[in-house]
Amino acid sequence: MIPVPEKRVAAFEKLGFGMFIHFGLYSQLGKGEWIKHFENIPDEKYNELFYTFSAKNFDAREIAKTAKAAGMKYITLTTRHHEGFSLYDTRGLSDYDAPHAPACRRDLIKEFVEGCNEEGVVPMFYHTTLDWHEKSFNDDFPAYLQYLRDSVEVLCTNYGKIGGLWFDGNWSKPGADWEEDKLYAVIRKHQPDAIIVNNTGLGARGKVGNKEIDSVTYEQGRPEPLDRDGMEKYVAAEMCYTLNDHWGCGHGDLNYKSPAGLIETLCACRKIGANLLLNVGPDGDGSILPIQKQLLMCMGSWIGACGESIYESKPCGIKGDGKNFALTDGKKAYLYIHDLGVNGLAKVSVCGDGEGIKRFYNVEGKVKSVRYTDNGETLDFLQKQDDLYVYAPPFPYGTNYVVRVAEVEFE
Ligand code: GLC
Repeated sequence: MIPVPEKRVAAFEKLGFGMFIHFGLYSQLGKGEWIKHFENIPDEKYNELFYTFSAKNFDAREIAKTAKAAGMKYITLTTRHHEGFSLYDTRGLSDYDAPHAPACRRDLIKEFVEGCNEEGVVPMFYHTTLDWHEKSFNDDFPAYLQYLRDSVEVLCTNYGKIGGLWFDGNWSKPGADWEEDKLYAVIRKHQPDAIIVNNTGLGARGKVGNKEIDSVTYEQGRPEPLDRDGMEKYVAAEMCYTLNDHWGCGHGDLNYKSPAGLIETLCACRKIGANLLLNVGPDGDGSILPIQKQLLMCMGSWIGACGESIYESKPCGIKGDGKNFALTDGKKAYLYIHDLGVNGLAKVSVCGDGEGIKRFYNVEGKVKSVRYTDNGETLDFLQKQDDLYVYAPPFPYGTNYVVRVAEVEFE
């Protein structure tokens, strides 16, 4: 028996595609969010970044607009990362926060939530559990856990309704008692509809943890279908993923993924019902790098042309060959067709021509029509028992959306 998802979990699954943002003091160095650790930067030296941190081009409304244009329905922002610096007003818990940073003096989380609310994008909070700054993390762990809970309570009580909390760092002390029940109780008390995630990291992708956890994580990996049979509670799945090889801004990291790869990755996530949380690492001043923005705009173009069905529809029994698959919203089915060529392109350039008959299996119900979502073209098909054969023409010359989606109507 597969358990029925709670309302908040079902709503989270329908968000489908979100933006992850890693922004902190480290962003000013442009060498990733772990640079303090890897270069062993002493505290005094690292703290200089606290004084130069201005976030002068961190424009929350603009970021929310960018996310929306990319087709992203939520944003998960690092309210505090491992360096221990908070983007929010910790209300006296610590001086190591954006409102105390002399060149900033703003509560960036307040701005973030407002920007998201104005654009209708759901705000979510990443929060570290591993802390390199707070001495109690190593010296007095129970006191540290209280500090963590108090911090989370600040986040849950000062910014209105939030979409969720996304924790990261429990893997740093694998044997420790993190008192997770107590931490999650703080959230359930103030934000009963918030999603709770605790990243299981690269070593334990897809692992189900504490009973309050609402979604498993697949850090940087292609998610495997979750076997929910017999689970006590239905958990969602989310894969977080970098645009290049770093979460925090990496000026020298040119290893960007291609738009085609990103589109296929988004599809691979939705194929198993997982959300994709795609990361941007803003520059030290808080602005989104042009190349990252451009990649996101490609995602938005794809969703606009082909991918509207990624949000409401879910995996179903229909199977395709190779990477092809289908989703359903309960009424219609959506066929995600990969590796099609471009019409006529063989005459002008070297390109594959993967058009032709595509077979889909386990199609229940009598098919009335099949048509491409991008241009409305109706497709020829043949239904034989449970098999559906669709003739999939290539992309019209001048386009190539990488994955093309055909909508199936039933009688
Ligand atoms: C890892 C890293 C961290 C990053 C996170 C995102 O756990 O420690 O820097 O924030 O992954 O998934």
